[in-house]
This record gives sequence, structure tokens and C-alpha cells, in this order.
Amino acid sequence: MDKLVIHGGVPLRGAIPVSGAKNAALPLMCAALLSDSTLTLSNVPELADIRTMKKLLGQHGVRITNPAPGVYALDAAAVDNFTAPYELVRTMRASVLVLGPLLSRFGAAKVSLPGGCAIGTRPIDLHLKALAAMGAVIELKDGYVHAACSGRLKGAEITFDKVSVGATENAVMAATLAEGKTTLHNAAREPEVQDLCQALKAMGASVHGIGTSTLVVEGVKRLGGAWHTVIADRIEAGTYAAAAAATGGEVELIGARADLMQAVIAAFIRAGVEVKETPRGLSVRNTCKRLRSVDVTTEVYPGFPTDMQAQAMAMMAIAEGVSRISETIFENRYMHVPELSRMGAGITMDGGEAVIHGVAELKPAEVMATDLRASVGLVIAALAARGETTLHRVYHLDRGYERLEEKLSACGARIERVPGTAGAEDRLEEAA
Ligand code: UD1
Repeated sequence: MDKLVIHGGVPLRGAIPVSGAKNAALPLMCAALLSDSTLTLSNVPELADIRTMKKLLGQHGVRITNPAPGVYALDAAAVDNFTAPYELVRTMRASVLVLGPLLSRFGAAKVSLPGGCAIGTRPIDLHLKALAAMGAVIELKDGYVHAACSGRLKGAEITFDKVSVGATENAVMAATLAEGKTTLHNAAREPEVQDLCQALKAMGASVHGIGTSTLVVEGVKRLGGAWHTVIADRIEAGTYAAAAAATGGEVELIGARADLMQAVIAAFIRAGVEVKETPRGLSVRNTCKRLRSVDVTTEVYPGFPTDMQAQAMAMMAIAEGVSRISETIFENRYMHVPELSRMGAGITMDGGEAVIHGVAELKPAEVMATDLRASVGLVIAALAARGETTLHRVYHLDRGYERLEEKLSACGARIERVPGTAGAEDRLEEAA
């Protein structure tokens, strides 16, 4: 398994191009299953999760070509296998997003249950309830969801008990080919859900209320092809912003969308970081200043994203004063806490909240990545800590950060990958 060796203490300075959003690209690739015409996606990041999704769709019978870097043409005209197997679903939970499209277009789908994961139980009951409300017959057998419907799914009035990004995406995709009108109440409003809805519209779907918590879909008999550009990754942009802030540096995030990052920007400003929109994106500056403590509670969009919680904690570990971080989206999403503590952070748990007593500086150590965002939180801590930190199990980072070392090195970071034994991707574990 590869590891990263980071010599911290160097302020990041320079420009970082923001990649397309992983969490938008994955559902968008699944949307290709809804049509027998080609869906072409551009600005797709080159990541382990995208490769897993290509494998999954490929085994369903989707023909995928890559005519230019970051451009994928997905042709689902010859899909003939409706099973998403355990080996793939277990490595990437977003695989369950094939369920709605397969069921809606072909009337049948068999998808492995994703199982437990590193950041909480993460059930899929909301996905299944929504599809059942549209007339699907769902059975759980041998670790698989067996879903079927005779004829088309039927439009329905659905209220989600809890806001779920994935359940909203599965339901909205299924509804595009259902008979009649589907209304999704308490739907997720995340930018990635909005991006999916825009692509569905470009394919000929009728989707209203995009960006609100009520989505109304008028089912159509067939969807066509489209060309769609994946939105910029707001979490990747926020991650590099946190790295710049924690190292006392200054970076311009090319392509970052400030309008999609309001809660994160507000927290950075409270911490004393200068954040400004530029013609190319966003500039983030914290030269020679100790950060101020900030309390953060994770919430659904437009609140502070859970996927930025570990990065915020790494920043707060070296801020002046005491910060409280409360995770409300996923239970157990604090695996970075013991690892940050190994680097000298003063963190205690108080019920479901992390209480962070900022220290003047973190110390280098050997640490271990446990999931995607926890790992990148450790990278930020390592970039800030003077001396050599080794981060093990880097494959978690490869799931969601495109060219991480290259982007950071270009801004002066001293970061090196030490290759491990082959086959690391086979050991990919579940994370956000
Ligand atoms: C997506 C993102 C992930 C992000 C998360 C929350 C992708 C590929 N992943 O994950 O990076 O951290 O949104 O912003 O886009 N829940 C249920 N039942 C369900 C589904 C979800 O109880 O059927 C719960 C989950 O356990 C969690 C909460 O709802 O507590 C939110 O999860 P959800 O929004 O569904 O996350 P994902 O779509 O899995």
C-alpha cells in the first residue's frame, strides 16, 4: 500500500486547478443507464471511484469511451445485465445509484447491499422506500436488493423522513421514466443533486424545483443523449483552502465556485482567513496569522458540509482558543480524532461533539488514513506540522482527490508518494 511522506511547515503559495466533483460525476455516470443514446460527460475527475464506476457500468453492458482527458461518452444502448455485484458495491457505496435507473428503464435490478462502512451504518432504506412508493416490488435476499416492476414505475408523492443525497438522486432518476408525476418532498438540495437534475433535463426529462427541497418530475417515455460538464468540486476547493489557511499560505483556487461554498467561506472568515472571489475562482489568504477558533456544526446543504468536517478540525487544531465541532450527518465520523491527537492536537469528545483546544503547533507522526475525508484532514495537519509525517493507507485519498501530490507540490508543499505493494485498489474500503 502506498504511503505519503510530508515535510510540513511550508506555507502553500500558488494556484490550484479545481477538478470536477466526484460526487456529481458518479450519479451522472449512472444517469447514462436511463437512455439508449449517448450521454457525454466532460470535466470528469480521474479517480479510483470513477474507475470503479466505469467497471460497474461496463459489466452492466454500458460502452464507455474516453475521447479526451476528462471526457467520457457513455452508451447504454446494449445493457443486458441488471446485477450490481457485491465485489464492486462494497468498494464504493455510490454503486447503489444504478438501482433507480436500471429499475426504471428495464423493470428489474439486483444490487448488492453496501454493508457497513467506516463512517457509520449508512443504510439505504430511504432509497428503497421511494422506489417502493413508485410501485417497485422490493425484496432483500442473500445480501442483495431485488427490485422489479411490471411495466413502468408510477409517479408518486414521496416525503423523505430525512434528507439524503443518494436517495434523492436514485428517486429523481427513477422518476424521469415513470408514468405520471412524482413529487419529492424534503429532497436534498446539494449542488451535486442540482447538477444531476440539469443533466437529466438536457436528456429530455421534465424536472422542476431544482435547488429547492421539493422536486417535481413529470415522467417521459424515453430520454435522449446529452453533453454535460460536471460542476467544480466544492469539497476539493474547500480542502485546499483549508490547507492554505493551516500553513499560513495563499492560494488561488481556479474554477472554485464561491456561490456553492457559502457556509465554508463564512467559517473561514470567522477563523480570520481572507477569502475573495477572483475572476478565475477564489483566493484564500492567511499570511503569518494564527487562526481563530470557530464552532462548526455539519448540516445538509446549504449548511456546513460533513465532507469538510475533518479538514476544519485540522485547521482548528492549531487555532487560538477552543472550538467545538458537531457532526450531525454521520455517526462515528470522528476517526481522524485519534490520529490528530497523535500529532499533538488537544481534542476531547463531549457526547457527540469534538472539543478542540488549539495548540500552537502540531508535531509530525506516523498516522493512518481511515476514510477519504479523514485522510485529507491528516494531510492538512501534516502540511502544517514542522517535520516529517508519514500517512499510511493513501488509497483512501486516491478515491477522491485527483493529482493531490502534484497540486500541492506546485504550491511548494514537500510531499512524496512512496509506492507500496501492488493491488492496493483491491483493498479499497468504504468511505464518503
Ligand atoms: C453523499 C456523498 C457523501 C456525503 C453525503 C452527505 C456521494 C457519492 N456521497 O453520500 O460524500 O458525505 O452525501 O452530504 O455523493 N441515510 C439513511 N437512509 C438512507 C440513506 C441515508 O438513514 O437510505 C442517512 C445516512 O446514514 C446519513 C444521512 O442519511 O446519516 C445522509 O446520508 P446521504 O445524504 O444519503 O449520504 P450519501 O448519499 O450516501
